[in-house]
Amino acid sequence: MIQEFIPSGYTSSLSEEMYSHRAPSNIALVKYWGKKQGQIPANPSISFTLSNCYTDTSVQLSTRTEYAEPYSFDIYFEGELKESFRAKINSFFQRIEIYLPFIKEYHFEIRSMNSFPHSSGIASSASSMAALSVCLMKIEKELQPQMTDDFFWKKASFLARLGSGSACRSVKGSIVLWGEHPEVDGSSDFYGITYPFAIHPNFNNYQDTILLIDKGQKQVSSSQGHNLMYGHPFALQRFEQASVNISKLKTIFEQGDLNAFIEIVESEALTLHAMMMTSLPYFILMKPNTLTAIEKIWQFRKQTGIPVGFTLDAGANVHVLYPYKVKKEVLQFIDSQLTILCENGQYIKDEVK
Ligand code: PMV
Repeated sequence: MIQEFIPSGYTSSLSEEMYSHRAPSNIALVKYWGKKQGQIPANPSISFTLSNCYTDTSVQLSTRTEYAEPYSFDIYFEGELKESFRAKINSFFQRIEIYLPFIKEYHFEIRSMNSFPHSSGIASSASSMAALSVCLMKIEKELQPQMTDDFFWKKASFLARLGSGSACRSVKGSIVLWGEHPEVDGSSDFYGITYPFAIHPNFNNYQDTILLIDKGQKQVSSSQGHNLMYGHPFALQRFEQASVNISKLKTIFEQGDLNAFIEIVESEALTLHAMMMTSLPYFILMKPNTLTAIEKIWQFRKQTGIPVGFTLDAGANVHVLYPYKVKKEVLQFIDSQLTILCENGQYIKDEVK
C-alpha cells in the first residue's frame, strides 16, 4: 500500500524552476481526534473544503551548495524569513524523504501566505501542508512525466497527511473523506478521497461564516490533544461513534435532510470538545462567547425554523453553517446578534468550494 508511493527511479531531470499551488482550508463535519503511529487516524473523518480561506505557496528550486544539514531550505511566511517554522518543515521532510528522495538533492526556497488573518485562531496547517505537498508533487511530476493525474492527487494527499493529518483533506474535492470506512470503497487511512456518493443540491455552496471569537494562540496544540486520546476512558466509543456518524451522513447527504445534518454536525463538535474536557490533563478551548454564540444560534433556529447550525474546530471560533438559500436571513442575524461576540467584531464569510 505505502510501497506504491516510493519511487523506483526517475526518468527525467529537474531545472531550477518555481512551482506554486493554492490549497484551501477545510472544516471537519465528522472530526478526526486521536491517531495511531505514523499519522494514521483513529477514526474516519469527513470535511467541507472552503473557498476563501486558503494558503498560497511557491517553491523555488535551486542547486544545493550547503550540506551541513540533512535538508537545505529557507521558509518565508508573508515575506519574512521564519526560523520558527524550520523545525516543522524539517520533520515533515524527514517523514517524506523516503517517498520523495529528490528533497535531499536540492535547495528549496519556500514562500507561503494565507488569505486569512495571521493570528485569527484558524489553523493554517491544513492548507499550508496541502499547498506545500502539491508543490512537491509538481516537482516529482517533472521527474516522472508519465505519472497519472489520479496518482498525483492521491500521493499529494498522502504526503500532506504526513505534515498534518487534516491537511490530506485539503488537496482535492469539495467534500473529502479520510480514513477507512467499511461502507466506502476506496476509503483509506493514508489519504483523503473525494466523497463518492450522491449529494443533494441543499448542500451546494453551503455557507460557513467563521466567528473569530478568540484570536489568541491555543494553550493546547492539536498534536497534544490527539495524544491525550491514548488511554482516554471514552476513546473507543468515540471512534466507533465517528464511523456510525459517517454512515448516517450518507443518507442525509443523499436526501438533503438539513435538520438531521445539523444534529450530527453539532453533536460531533460538542463531542470533540467533550473529549478535551475529559482528557487527563483536561482542558477547555471554548470561551464564554463560544457558548453564547451557540445559544443564540439555537434560539434563532427555534424561533425562525431556519436550518442554521454550528461546528467548532480545536479552538474557540464558531463556524456557522447554513444552506445558500437562507444566506440573506442568516447574515442579518449574524450582523445583529453574533458579531458583538467576535474579537474586534471580526468574522470571515466562506462557503464550500
Ligand atoms: O490535522 P490536525 O492534527 O491539526 O488535527 C485536526 C483536528 C481537528 O481540526 C480538531 C478535527 C479535524 O478533523 O480537522
